[in-house]
Amino acid sequence: MRGRSQQFKDFITFPLRAVLPVQESRWGLTSRPDERFEYVAREISGRVLDIGCGRHNSFINRYALGNGVGVDVFRYDGLADANIVEDMAHLPFPDASFDTVTFIACFNHIPKSERDAEVREAFRVLRRGGKIVVTMGNPLAELAIHRLVHLYDRLLGTKLDMDTERGMHEDEDYFVRDRVIVEHLAAGGFRDIRKHYFITQWGLNHLLTAQRHA
Ligand SMILES: C[S@@+](CC[C@H](N)C(=O)[O-])C[C@H]1O[C@@H](n2cnc3c(N)ncnc32)[C@H](O)[C@@H]1O
Repeated sequence: MRGRSQQFKDFITFPLRAVLPVQESRWGLTSRPDERFEYVAREISGRVLDIGCGRHNSFINRYALGNGVGVDVFRYDGLADANIVEDMAHLPFPDASFDTVTFIACFNHIPKSERDAEVREAFRVLRRGGKIVVTMGNPLAELAIHRLVHLYDRLLGTKLDMDTERGMHEDEDYFVRDRVIVEHLAAGGFRDIRKHYFITQWGLNHLLTAQRHA
């Protein structure tokens, strides 16, 4: 976890960190991906299922200390067979087998027609009292960052944009509004929905948490 001085440094350098074409923490600054993982890590407990885990299953390996499983629909670098689940509405896990389920920067990538089914499936695999965590950026910030990263990849030949590597479908979005995420969570049976801003990203990114009560 970052100390106060690191958080202060990250806060004042956020505009620079937002536009730099790097995804790893360096030069004494925390990268935006590491930063969102860190905010999510504050919310987790017990065994974690990270849905849409992305390259190298980083959240589970580095932030949940290996206590859990990361799954993705696409075979990114660093993922094994056990990480690939093509249909996230039918997860290969028993009922109530996780304490936390996370959707980090991926809820907008779930095709619209499948969002309710994926949330219901997250509910099924969570134990009673378990928590769901969904991160989502501010709509304008999400659009700007996607465009910028896409531009860097074209101009510099980098592979920053995971979504371009996988290929986005028509039914996905660049962002989902909180009101809509809240509706999906409530329809899936979740209660006690709360919002927490990422202060060191000037509130332009945030997460929603909710509980499985019944
Ligand atoms: C922007 S990446 C985020 C990856 C990782 N969670 C992170 O924070 O670095 C979006 C992820 O959503 C995944 N994804 C695509 N379709 C999905 C679906 N139906 N359900 C869950 N995740 C999906 C993508 O494969 C990709 O890994």
